[in-house]
Amino acid sequence: MMSMVLSLQIIITAFLFITTTATATASASSPPSGFTMDLIHRRTINSSSSRRSNNNDTYDQLLSSSSPYADVVFDNYEYLMKLKIGTPPVEIEATIDTGSDMIWTQCLPCLHCHKQRNPIFDPSKSSTYKEECSSNTSSCDYDLYYGDGTYSKGRLATETVTIQSTSGHSYVMPEIVIGCSHNSSEAIRSTASGIVGLGRQPLSLISQIGLGAFSYCFSPEEGTSSKISFGSNAIVSGDGTVSTPMFLKEDKPTFYYLNLDAVSVGKARVETLGTPFHAVDGNIVIDSGSTAFYLPASYLSLVRELVEKVVTAEKVDSEETLCYKTNSMDLFPVITVHFSGGADLVLDKNNTYMAFNGQVICLMIMSAPATPFAEKAVFGNRAQSNFLVGYDRSSLQVSFKPTHCADVTQAMPRDSTSAASSFLQLFHIKFVLFILVLSLIRP
Ligand SMILES: *[C@@H]1O[C@H](CO)[C@@H](O)[C@H](O)[C@H]1NC(C)=O
Ligand SMILES: *[C@@H]1O[C@H](CO)[C@@H](O)[C@H](O)[C@H]1NC(C)=O
Ligand SMILES: *[C@@H]1O[C@H](CO)[C@@H](O)[C@H](O)[C@H]1NC(C)=O
Ligand SMILES: *[C@@H]1O[C@H](CO)[C@@H](O)[C@H](O)[C@H]1NC(C)=O
Ligand SMILES: *[C@@H]1O[C@H](CO)[C@@H](O)[C@H](O)[C@H]1NC(C)=O
Repeated sequence: MMSMVLSLQIIITAFLFITTTATATASASSPPSGFTMDLIHRRTINSSSSRRSNNNDTYDQLLSSSSPYADVVFDNYEYLMKLKIGTPPVEIEATIDTGSDMIWTQCLPCLHCHKQRNPIFDPSKSSTYKEECSSNTSSCDYDLYYGDGTYSKGRLATETVTIQSTSGHSYVMPEIVIGCSHNSSEAIRSTASGIVGLGRQPLSLISQIGLGAFSYCFSPEEGTSSKISFGSNAIVSGDGTVSTPMFLKEDKPTFYYLNLDAVSVGKARVETLGTPFHAVDGNIVIDSGSTAFYLPASYLSLVRELVEKVVTAEKVDSEETLCYKTNSMDLFPVITVHFSGGADLVLDKNNTYMAFNGQVICLMIMSAPATPFAEKAVFGNRAQSNFLVGYDRSSLQVSFKPTHCADVTQAMPRDSTSAASSFLQLFHIKFVLFILVLSLIRP
């Protein structure tokens, strides 16, 4: 057996401690400005699984003929990945979230569980479930908070995770660190069992798989399925593909940043240059776990003014965004986002506008919620739908290829979920606020 020491930087920014929920949990053990912890994660080098273990060509060829992938379903403004955990494997569905790192699922016994579509995972029935506890404190607990106020609390464990593979066999990953959530917030409105973090840090699924690339294609059509791919099959190329540099920030070690140079409304282009939003090293987080497209209020107002110049319909009073009384998308201008490096995405009207009850159409580009912790600019999943989006962590590029994502051969009806009571409640903001892990030291 080989042990590998990964350093897990857990940054807790001071302002988080102002919020009441944060204070309650954090008071126990953490200093106010962040702490660092070593994660010792055993990697089985002679594993019988298909996990990458060396740079042998033959092995690479094997991998390219068998890339792992999973089916993706759209549910309540989130995209869920189907995966199996445990031995014997049990299916769960978890929100695909590039804005956080942990993989977690609800577990029995429930102190407090939200509704989910699949049966809740019972760790006592899995022969490979093993809690991951601190040698010192013997605590296996974690607490996780997201930008929309949702949370998950439970035990850290290692468990076997199984997805599909292009070879037709299962892709089995032993000893993946997961969270077994015994207390998950009510506010989680999808039917997901949990979340699969795909952020940059060591605990995310993509870091634990050890393959440098992943891609997903989100279909906005209800009842259709699409895919998320890992490894060599995740490289996005071909006609229509555009790429932009991915930027990393030390103080935000989870996120993938892109640099937004400008937004065009029809033919009118609003540069970020000359505004406080302008940057050359990343000014917007790309987040599959957030629904909407957020821009800083001052820059957004420039974009909105141009939309208002074009749309002739009657405006609806709305504090949250720009809405009009109409049922015709034709009145609205096409919006193009210009990422650095010449990556121009001409967005479909469905990516940028949304019709409500066939009576009102709203601009789906909003200013970030007025909380002290929110990222000011987030490129969320609605704007990304019907693009094949590839993250290549070795070349530090994000690529986009216009694609009709729905896999019609896999259409499946789904139960609709509880209606949101207000406009903003429709939207998820799944980027991690902070994580408190007491126990990442393996004996
Ligand atoms: C892997 O297996 C080989 C041969 O079976 C053995 O010599 C080697 O020590 C093993 N390595 C580890 C890390 O277990
Ligand atoms: C590559 O890996 C395969 C399968 O593990 C092995 O049979 C082969 O000898 C390796 N080749 C090299 C050059 O190491
Ligand atoms: C679950 O966590 C919340 C938020 O910290 C807390 O208020 C609640 O009491 C917890 N519920 C249980 C049953 O432990
Ligand atoms: C474990 O406990 C020992 C003695 O109490 C202490 O010196 C050491 O720093 C602790 N290690 C961790 C990782 O907390
Ligand atoms: C946009 O959404 C509407 C309603 O959901 C749908 O009828 C239309 O086909 C969609 N257009 C595209 C290009 O996806």
